[in-house]
Amino acid sequence: MNGLKIVRSSERYVESYCETFDEVAREGRFLSISQGYPVEEMIRFIKTCRQCGYPQFLLIDPEGRAAGWCDIVRRCGEPDDVGFLGVGIAAKYRGMGWGSRLMSAAIKDAKKRGFNEIRLEVRASNYNAIRTYSRLGFVRIAYKSEGVVTDGVAEDIWVMSLYSREISHEGFDGDDFFGIFPNTGFRFKKQR
Ligand SMILES: CC(C)(COP(=O)(O)OP(=O)(O)OC[C@H]1O[C@@H](n2cnc3c(N)ncnc32)[C@H](O)[C@@H]1OP(=O)(O)O)[C@@H](O)C(=O)NCCC(=O)NCCS
Repeated sequence: MNGLKIVRSSERYVESYCETFDEVAREGRFLSISQGYPVEEMIRFIKTCRQCGYPQFLLIDPEGRAAGWCDIVRRCGEPDDVGFLGVGIAAKYRGMGWGSRLMSAAIKDAKKRGFNEIRLEVRASNYNAIRTYSRLGFVRIAYKSEGVVTDGVAEDIWVMSLYSREISHEGFDGDDFFGIFPNTGFRFKKQR
């Protein structure tokens, strides 16, 4: 559609990937950082994703530039089958279904690679993203006041989760909350 395509990430796109990431970061309303990474650091990240088997996909525009990204990575201290999703699309290609397609590709790949839960953090004010995640099946499981601080400005965040299997939770605590989820300190809302 429109000459855009989704591909697995590779170093050949690193410069435009860095530029697009930087543009989205500088919008200041979406990511947890307000500027992008240097090329060398991004190359390291792409290599890490490949070596560790983390899903990482790019949206390529008709000029062959990376106009969006989605990755799912493990985090230290979290269970091995939980992946954390990051996503962004250049402003001119938003609202056309590409973000959903990019995430679907990464999630499908993550399931093949043994991830049973995909989690993400999103600013409470990022309604477009929250709606897009919800449509893909993510549910809001925790709310953290001032969960992100960017350039000294704090904002509340939602933690959202997509399960591919039932997970048994310990520490059930009343009707509304499961209790404290390991390693996060978050109170997790009961899923219905
Ligand atoms: C969140 C994001 C990845 C979603 O990707 P996308 O390609 O815009 O998403 P889709 O087109 O698949 O779906 C977006 C929804 O928002 C609507 N939308 C309309 N205009 C939009 C716009 N300018 N920007 C974003 N979403 C828009 C779409 O219509 C769709 O909702 P609907 O199906 O209920 O109508 C993308 O908007 C983005 O990169 N935003 C900035 C960075 C960001 O927020 N990253 C996530 C941080 S947690």
